[in-house]
Amino acid sequence: MGVAVVTGANRGLGAEWVHQLLEAGWKVYAGFRKDLGRLSVLEHQNLTVHQLDVVSNDSVQGFAENAPEKIDLLINNAGVADGRWRNLTEIDDSWALEVLDINALGPVRVVKALYGKMNHDSLTKIAMVSSLMASIDDCHIGRSYAYRASKTALNMFTVAMKKEAIEDNIAFVILHPGWVKTDMGGDRAPVEIPDSISGMREVLETRTLENSGEFVQFDGALLPW
Ligand SMILES: NC(=O)c1ccc[n+]([C@@H]2O[C@H](COP(=O)([O-])OP(=O)(O)OC[C@H]3O[C@@H](n4cnc5c(N)ncnc54)[C@H](OP(=O)(O)O)[C@@H]3O)[C@@H](O)[C@H]2O)c1
Repeated sequence: MGVAVVTGANRGLGAEWVHQLLEAGWKVYAGFRKDLGRLSVLEHQNLTVHQLDVVSNDSVQGFAENAPEKIDLLINNAGVADGRWRNLTEIDDSWALEVLDINALGPVRVVKALYGKMNHDSLTKIAMVSSLMASIDDCHIGRSYAYRASKTALNMFTVAMKKEAIEDNIAFVILHPGWVKTDMGGDRAPVEIPDSISGMREVLETRTLENSGEFVQFDGALLPW
């Protein structure tokens, strides 16, 4: 039975990761920032939960210390949208820094803290949940300044870390979940939460050390940088 860790697991895509991984027979260690949310109804003998705020080194450290000793899969899912500023003169630098801290550095803190538990004989996979909005090539309409920049930074952190991780038998994948009906994606989003997660789980199945660091959409399409 594999052991998976999921961050931002109390609602949206994170809660569905937990649900589908439990159904598939995984042991799941899930992080929630404030409220248990859907985790309280997902109660299961193979589910353990722990508080986790990815901007706090103390919280990340406590989460890592309580994590299982051997981890096979990490889903770095926690993330926030930015201020929906109407134009560039409205960009709020302190809010923008907070978005960068949560979305770009948060997942890196979690990787660092759990690395010793992921570095073992069998292949470990790390999913960095990014977004198509990270793509510079695809940035035709602009806006969502801090969100885009945070996810582009996350992509580069991942590509920059992947070479060392390959030597430790760890493969990364950078995932775009699609535009999904969650609190962040909104009601107009065309993709349903369960379809996004089942698609991303299929993408995970195809991950190896050779294709580590690819930027892949939930339906398996490779994305431009
Ligand atoms: N939905 C989409 O269309 C879409 C598209 C592309 C990428 N994504 C990415 O997919 C991931 C999940 O998004 P979603 O749509 O499920 O969003 P969501 O419904 O807004 O859920 C976001 C989750 O992240 C958690 N979180 C936020 N800040 C955190 C922090 N500092 N520490 C720990 N957890 C934190 C939230 O916890 P709280 O409940 O405590 O706030 C919540 O569990 C995000 O990384 C997002 O950028 C989503």
